[in-house]
Amino acid sequence: MALAAEGADIIAIDRCADIDSIPYPLATKADLDKTVALVEARGRRAVPVIADVRDLDALRAGVQSGIDQLGDVDIVVANAGVVAIGLKDPLDEAVYRDIVDTNLNGVWHTIVATVPSIIRKGRGGSIILTSSAQGLVGRGGDGSAAMFAYAAAKHGVVGLMRSAANAYAQNNIRVNSVHPTGVATPMILNEFTATSMRDNPRGSSLSANLLPVPFVEAEDVTNAVVWLASAKARYITGATLPIDAGHTVM
Ligand SMILES: NC(=O)c1ccc[n+]([C@@H]2O[C@H](COP(=O)([O-])OP(=O)(O)OC[C@H]3O[C@@H](n4cnc5c(N)ncnc54)[C@H](O)[C@@H]3O)[C@@H](O)[C@H]2O)c1
Repeated sequence: MALAAEGADIIAIDRCADIDSIPYPLATKADLDKTVALVEARGRRAVPVIADVRDLDALRAGVQSGIDQLGDVDIVVANAGVVAIGLKDPLDEAVYRDIVDTNLNGVWHTIVATVPSIIRKGRGGSIILTSSAQGLVGRGGDGSAAMFAYAAAKHGVVGLMRSAANAYAQNNIRVNSVHPTGVATPMILNEFTATSMRDNPRGSSLSANLLPVPFVEAEDVTNAVVWLASAKARYITGATLPIDAGHTVM
């Protein structure tokens, strides 16, 4: 919505279905339709695409359908992600694979599905990858397969970001990652996660921020994304930007 308010048309991609191993609800088709309506209310166009970022062919087809209607791409926000705070099994391979597939492989898929379009357009671009404070530090690690997967994938996003920043600088494409601490979104404001945090106060205190706030708001991350997408950040590339209320300060 914030990018639309700045004048962007939007290809809005979500899988709009839950994942069996992930213990809280993901977005729905109604959420995607609402996003389209909110973009249109800001005077821009939006193409909704139901695709899973783990499925490169589906993602490429969805991006192409957006390009067919809106033209080539300038800005990419690779933001789809899942977590499973509170699933304690150290050997839960299903959750490990689903988190790495979405949070790491899905980001790579998003890059390769979109970069050819930015290059074809020939005006450069900005790619923003959503990592996490867990992409910079391991605080909160509890030995579970879920937290190993989340930290590994989010650290891996930094590798994708740095490699892509090198690869596409010649095309004037900037690539950066954002690293939020806990954000007040359905990912953590759900019954399963709230119960897990209540039952494990030590884990919650380990993940506490320096500044006296339990979470940041989605808008705080949005502001960073909009800035990184804008010409005001025209020479910022390869940066890992914490939006973390001091969570990662050593
Ligand atoms: N909320 C937090 O505390 C927090 C903190 C740091 C980083 N992040 C990251 O921010 C990003 C956005 O998360 P959020 O907090 O808005 O959570 P959210 O659950 O509200 O949104 C995540 C979205 O990704 C979609 N999604 C999940 N798996 C998908 C897949 N395989 N293919 C396509 N779409 C998929 C979901 O349907 C949902 O709409 C994620 O990458 C997350 O890891 C969140």
